[in-house]
Amino acid sequence: MYKIIETDGNAKSAEFTTVHGVVQTPVFMNVGTAAAIKGAVATTDLQNIKTQIELSNTYHLHVRPGDKIVKQLGGLHKFMNWDKPILTDSGGFQVFSLAGLRKIKEEGVYFNSHVDGRKIFMGPEESMQIQSNLASTIAMAFDECPSSRADEKYIRDSVDRTTRWLQRCKDEMARLNSLPDTINKQQMLFAINQGGVFNDIRVEHAKVISEMNLDGYAIGGLAVGESHEEMYDVLEHVVPFLPKDKPTYLMGVGTPANILEAVERGVDFFDCVYPSRNGRHGHVYTNKGKLNLFNAKYELDSKPIEEGCGCPACQNYSRAYIRHLLKAKEMLGMRLCVLHNLYFYNTMMEEIREAIRNKSFSAYKKSKLEGFKENDL
Ligand code: GUN
Ligand code: ZN
Repeated sequence: MYKIIETDGNAKSAEFTTVHGVVQTPVFMNVGTAAAIKGAVATTDLQNIKTQIELSNTYHLHVRPGDKIVKQLGGLHKFMNWDKPILTDSGGFQVFSLAGLRKIKEEGVYFNSHVDGRKIFMGPEESMQIQSNLASTIAMAFDECPSSRADEKYIRDSVDRTTRWLQRCKDEMARLNSLPDTINKQQMLFAINQGGVFNDIRVEHAKVISEMNLDGYAIGGLAVGESHEEMYDVLEHVVPFLPKDKPTYLMGVGTPANILEAVERGVDFFDCVYPSRNGRHGHVYTNKGKLNLFNAKYELDSKPIEEGCGCPACQNYSRAYIRHLLKAKEMLGMRLCVLHNLYFYNTMMEEIREAIRNKSFSAYKKSKLEGFKENDL
């Protein structure tokens, strides 16, 4: 159930109730592709960094360790020791970005595993079966994310196929949720809007899928090479045609500035590898922009990454110490940077919710963006 608490312009703050608890939106999902957040972050760390919901990938977990094994072990929640919501991406995007040779047919996609090269087939039914075995809170529809270089005709045909795949996903999910040995019989399904940067195709698709009564609506196929302005323009056109009484999820986005712009245009779920990936490279977020802790200027810096930050890194360690760990290739260096970055993102989302609930979002956004300018972000 999705209940709007407050709106401020097009920005909205809501409570999304699932079988694994309530998610306060806008929310940033912390990415744990293969059932782990990269950078040696354990699920037992997550309550200390304000994580509300974790995201994992169907494709990766199907290839290794195998969704049937996860099911035998009681599902992803038990496997990872995480009892709050989990969203699983459908495999569509990962097949297109990772797998080698692939062939797209009406029935689904034939591709080779990125681990051992073996041939795999995944279609809407297979994706739903895998996600049902994983027993995530929210499953994503199996979609095609076309290349940003694809032409209009290709995108039109691809979007039509994605719509037909959505109906198959919905039917299969209903069947799986009614089976006696399904772990999560209340698994939710989110649809994914596609259409590249063609606003007319996007809007047409948004109208069609809005009629299909899914639990939430994602916008996919963005942040794949188009400019930020093109992405914001798509959001301005599409979000008004998605159901107001369901969550809106912008997939794979993005920088703190991207998130602020998207929240202003009505988005409430996000995910992105930036905070964990940047943390592993010693790049840390602050309210004055991003710092590179490898920089020599931090050699004798006894301050925390950010003064006043409540994260496990800033509460206990200095920039100089973390810089040393990174340079000595001690795993703890990466881990502390990732914990700080996720805490930074999760705290920004908390501030965003508070600003919307106080009807002061645009002032908040302006001052946040102003601060980031000091260093580049
Ligand atoms: N993650 C980022 N973009 C996409 C997309 O277009 N589809 C899916 N399934 N996942 C994504
Ligand atoms: Zn910190």
